Amino acid sequence: MTTQPKIPLILDGDPGHDDAIAWTLAHASGRFDIRAVTTCAGNQTIEKTTYNALRVCALIGLNVPVARGCPRPLLTAPMNAPSVHGESGLDGPALPEPAFEIQPFGAVELMARVLRESSEPVTLVSTGPMTNTAALLLAHPELKPKIARISLMGGGLLHGNWTPAAEFNILVDPEAAKIVFESGLPILMAGLDVTEKALILPEDFARIREQGSAVSDVVWQWLEFFYKFHRNLGYAGAPMHDPCAVMALLYPELFTMKDCYVQIETLGDYCKGATVPDWHGAAGHAPNATCLMDVDRDAFADRLVQLIARYKEVRP
Ligand code: BDR
Ligand code: CA
Repeated sequence: MTTQPKIPLILDGDPGHDDAIAWTLAHASGRFDIRAVTTCAGNQTIEKTTYNALRVCALIGLNVPVARGCPRPLLTAPMNAPSVHGESGLDGPALPEPAFEIQPFGAVELMARVLRESSEPVTLVSTGPMTNTAALLLAHPELKPKIARISLMGGGLLHGNWTPAAEFNILVDPEAAKIVFESGLPILMAGLDVTEKALILPEDFARIREQGSAVSDVVWQWLEFFYKFHRNLGYAGAPMHDPCAVMALLYPELFTMKDCYVQIETLGDYCKGATVPDWHGAAGHAPNATCLMDVDRDAFADRLVQLIARYKEVRP
């Protein structure tokens, strides 16, 4: 029997319920060699998302270097999302306290060290505003060849969620997103086009609840908390925005994808933070992103439930 080599990975995000679930799935899969976790400001302040990141690591038994990211977007004023994720950024079930300390240096330095020390290119999974990744590309252009690709949750080719035109992660730091999308690196884009179809329904929460492990007990309550906000907006379930960035690496066959040149709007009275797709090549550029457009919802939910079931033996 041949075993597939693990994919070296850095997880960069702003946990956040769906970031936390994305990381939980990535760790459960066993398909990744997670080399670092880095935090960004977004759903909450950098202090809160970093504390949450450490608590998620403690819960799922992920013991890798964690570093605090940039405290604010590159140019735009900071913005958080307490209406979605609560005052802590990860409201809901009680979590274990951090099991270890963060690194004495920041996220960009940790990313640079991981890339420099890696003998093979590393995949970045970005589930928050892209401030750290953009700062890394600006500070260390020589490390670009060490990035295999960026699988990101951000944007929406048809619509936004924070404004009619903009999705939250891009709106928080549009300049960073522009740097990333114009970097020439391969991008796998999980935008709202797909993430709002990747719904986990109340009956799926029940399947996770029945598993009865320490991790599944937290995950179904995260899902319930996250769903409460979305139910009021008319969603039938909890949209798995950030998990799509991980699931697309694990199970690409579940997704419909389309290559496209995506431009980031950094200005504008109405469209700041929009991800503008150039479907017909009007701007004269080759595609810079593979965009996830659709997903087999039932298969996605089954895989998610199965991955959480792998935590039956884990005790934080
Ligand atoms: C994105 O915004 C955040 O609130 C979520 O964690 C996700 O990354 C969805 O727009
Ligand atoms: Ca996020």
